[in-house]
Amino acid sequence: MCGIIAYTGFRQAVPLLLEGLRRLEYRGYDSAGLAVQNGEGYRLFKQAGKVSDLAKAVEGFSLEARIGIAHTRWATHGAPTDANAHPHVSYDGEVVLVHNGIIENYAMLKAYLLEQGISFSSDTDTEVLTHWIAWTRQKLADAPWEKVIREAFAHVEGTFGIAMLVRSLPDHIILLRRFSPLLIGVGRGEYFAASDATPLVPYTRSVIHLEEDEFAFLHPDQTEPLIFSLRDQPRTPKVEHIDWDIAAIERGGYPHFMLKEIFEQPNALRDCMRGRIRLEPLEVRLGGISRVMDRLISAPRLTLVGCGTSWHAALVGEYLIEQLARIPTEVEYASEFRYRNPVISSQDVVIGISQSGETADTLAALRLAKQQGALILGITNVVGSSIPRETHAGIYIHAGPEIGVASTKAFTAQLTALTLFALHLGANRYVLDRNFHDLLIEYLLRLPDLVATTLQQINEPVAQLAESIAHASNVLYLGRGYNFPVALEGALKLKEISYIHAEGYPAAEMKHGPIALIDKDMPVVVIALRDSLYEKVLGNIQEVRARGGRVIAIATQGDTEIQSYAEQVLYVPEVPEPLSPILTVLPLQLLAYHTAVLRGCDVDQPRNLAKSVTVE
Ligand code: G6P
Repeated sequence: MCGIIAYTGFRQAVPLLLEGLRRLEYRGYDSAGLAVQNGEGYRLFKQAGKVSDLAKAVEGFSLEARIGIAHTRWATHGAPTDANAHPHVSYDGEVVLVHNGIIENYAMLKAYLLEQGISFSSDTDTEVLTHWIAWTRQKLADAPWEKVIREAFAHVEGTFGIAMLVRSLPDHIILLRRFSPLLIGVGRGEYFAASDATPLVPYTRSVIHLEEDEFAFLHPDQTEPLIFSLRDQPRTPKVEHIDWDIAAIERGGYPHFMLKEIFEQPNALRDCMRGRIRLEPLEVRLGGISRVMDRLISAPRLTLVGCGTSWHAALVGEYLIEQLARIPTEVEYASEFRYRNPVISSQDVVIGISQSGETADTLAALRLAKQQGALILGITNVVGSSIPRETHAGIYIHAGPEIGVASTKAFTAQLTALTLFALHLGANRYVLDRNFHDLLIEYLLRLPDLVATTLQQINEPVAQLAESIAHASNVLYLGRGYNFPVALEGALKLKEISYIHAEGYPAAEMKHGPIALIDKDMPVVVIALRDSLYEKVLGNIQEVRARGGRVIAIATQGDTEIQSYAEQVLYVPEVPEPLSPILTVLPLQLLAYHTAVLRGCDVDQPRNLAKSVTVE
């Protein structure tokens, strides 16, 4: 959600900032802008549209500059117009600022500034903040910037990751963070800052995470950045190392990141399991939660919170944990949990599931649970992101950077991590049959290869199937048991990237409503594996067919019976039920992908969405 990149050093800033924006564009793509300092003044370019439009606008200007800030926006306050694009400049030209987040009390600050005679040229909360900082400095009679920032932000409520240039401190970038992530990239004689690591990796893999309520001054001559806290004493920055390289954030010959990430799933699963399975005896080891195992084993209940695809992973997690570890488990949308005054005791365990580790609602839900004494854990992908930093313990899924806005490899890696977690808990609670435990681990180890062959086998048939789906207005997805959440995920994938309305439903619930929608124009995708619910699902398929519905089945390899029930069948290999979602979701990911491509949609950057939702 909104991407920020900033640079100060010896390189040409404009191409660097534009390249950084391209890498960050998946965070938001309503508008883009940049400002560079050269000599006494600034040059500012900003407009609605994508980074490529901004690049065209900048072309032809020779912009010698070694320092600048840039932004790609996901609109919150104000429509995506040129005026609302960032950076914003203060009324006196002192402050140029980009912002990720929301200023909650912007209306009050704006009213005050209007009374002081300051006028506004946009509808954004960010412009209010920009003027507010300049106004505070004027009021403090040009006091040092450290003091100005403390005073200005004593009156600002909301969330922010901010990068700014100020005229009175040439060659400096000032950063500030509350809630919205910001990283400093440390080079030799140069500094970078960004909302996430993707634009930094081509230049440096040494980063410093700005902590909550910290602000920093970056100047190329400093051996280390000056970091202050709005609350406490300055701290000595700790440099951390990013362990993936530039290939991970390039498309590598694929037409879209989404397709690349779908095909990266075998490796994502391998990386998620690496070092976590001991062979003799077969056993799961999860170092990230070993310190809290006693509390986990005795927890009366677990609550899993997440949003979007991560919430779907949590739903599968509920089935896994209840079946394998026999701990009552609840799943909640993080956004609902945090606002409904949940009953939380000190024995509770609340687990946030999040690819980015930054989703505002998930983070807030975990903070709430922590305040009330619960043990909080994170299952996240982005190393060093806010959730793993704030939780007591956790599990990284190690899926590698996920750039496509529609989550794919993070989902299957989350399911893998949740399976490991449930197996580990089940074994430590002595509630899991040893043979079943071993069988699941053996299949887990085979899964990366099974995923790879499945993807190879179904990609072409799914691409053909997509031709008949691309014209549909509605698609229904049905599944039961472990595959009910997969039906939800299949529907979400289709609607978010192809803009076809889709709904996921537990197959048996269909007759309580959605059955009314079924006619010959409504494709119904049914996950109908040869598992404990097979016969029941066949019954549900008959109900669809009796109403003229068109059935597409996701079935178990070798099941020929299903062919007489469905117009089209896509096969996945047979695995124990708890592992089946990792395979059944593959055709659904590909179906959404190929349908979106056929409809000419922007697969990696679907309209109105953002990869990392750092606002409520
Ligand atoms: C956004 C993304 C989804 C993602 C959800 C939760 O809506 O578009 O793909 O599932 O946020 O994100 P998280 O990073 O917490 O998993």
